[in-house]
Amino acid sequence: MVQSLAWQVRHYPDPHVRPECFELATVELPEPRPGQVLVRNTWTSVDPGLRLRLRPDAPSGYFAAFPVGVPMDGVFTIGVVEQTTDPAFPVGTTVWHAQGWRTHAVVDVAEEAMNGIARLRALDVSVVSPQTYLGPLGPMGLTAYAGLHVVDGLRGGETIWVSAAAGAVGSLVCQVARLLGHRVVASAGTDQKVAWLLDDLGVDAAFSWRAAPVVESLRAAAPDGIDLYFDGVGGDHLEAALEVAKPFARLALCGSVSDYEGEPTGPRNLFLATSKNLTLRGFRGSAHVALLEEMQARLGGWLAAGLLESRETVFDGLESAPTALADMLAGRTTGKTLVRIGAGPGPLSMPELNSVG
Ligand SMILES: NC(=O)c1ccc[n+]([C@@H]2O[C@H](COP(=O)([O-])OP(=O)(O)OC[C@H]3O[C@@H](n4cnc5c(N)ncnc54)[C@H](OP(=O)(O)O)[C@@H]3O)[C@@H](O)[C@H]2O)c1
Repeated sequence: MVQSLAWQVRHYPDPHVRPECFELATVELPEPRPGQVLVRNTWTSVDPGLRLRLRPDAPSGYFAAFPVGVPMDGVFTIGVVEQTTDPAFPVGTTVWHAQGWRTHAVVDVAEEAMNGIARLRALDVSVVSPQTYLGPLGPMGLTAYAGLHVVDGLRGGETIWVSAAAGAVGSLVCQVARLLGHRVVASAGTDQKVAWLLDDLGVDAAFSWRAAPVVESLRAAAPDGIDLYFDGVGGDHLEAALEVAKPFARLALCGSVSDYEGEPTGPRNLFLATSKNLTLRGFRGSAHVALLEEMQARLGGWLAAGLLESRETVFDGLESAPTALADMLAGRTTGKTLVRIGAGPGPLSMPELNSVG
């Protein structure tokens, strides 16, 4: 019998995520049955979408809400197989799966977890670090790539605005769009993030959404208008995109993080979608699993060539996961927000005290 430490919800946030909303439980795991493996988790993901599930009912069509008082299930994670019943997943294999925010998990090999994107997969970690599969070579890369795909942004050569641009998805969208030959306008919440976007990621223009009304900053950065908008924020950002969009512009609606901890706002100017013949397309990365290999080949090639930067904010120890989520939602992290549970193959170490890298 293996024991796992696992985060569970104590009460739902009202409205802001705080560590006291969660409790760390000890769970006894059964021996893996045929078709199952035991995984020791090493890295787990911290995503804004978790906040959409920290409520009695998640938005219709989305991943299910986390019930109170049971380990949270359906969080993208990297681990190492410790016991196996399947020759395709020998002991020592690095894998991804959906049972994160815990130290160990018994995983069904055949389960189509999280719409299939988090089905147990063996990962090649010979040339990239395991956690790269939580960022550019995993669901974040797929979301960035799928969003550009659904609005025909992969052909390049246009002006694109990317919001939440210094985050996990946005920083990839900026870089991929630039590599494809787009003119990239980026927005983020601090001057340091704006400087990183301009100086390191090489975007053409960037602004802080806190410095002035978003629509004014966007007009100044894109005086001729935008052809594409990659929306991670919603609210005033989506309104600004509708205002500054050129006729027939396309908007990829990836998320609306500005709404996740409060009442949804806007857009109040949706008629502009009609008057300008705009296309607004909501999408989920998990609906585009068919693009995963194509995305990994392209982004993997750019990573290997040193053309793609994969920035991480790492919190050490499973105990830090709730703090990591709160910090990410508050804009205190840059790039992909991750929790490191263990250092890879070797004996289990208990989670360390929090520290932000
Ligand atoms: N459709 C999908 O399949 C899919 C998959 C993954 C993520 N998403 C969505 O994509 C978006 C980004 O996700 P991510 O994982 O890359 O997270 P992230 O950008 O790494 O972190 C979220 C960021 O949102 C920004 N933010 C928070 N409140 C804001 C506000 N009121 N106005 C403007 N910005 C605000 C903060 O950055 P600043 O400091 O810049 O404000 C924060 O760092 C989210 O909406 C998420 O739900 C969708």
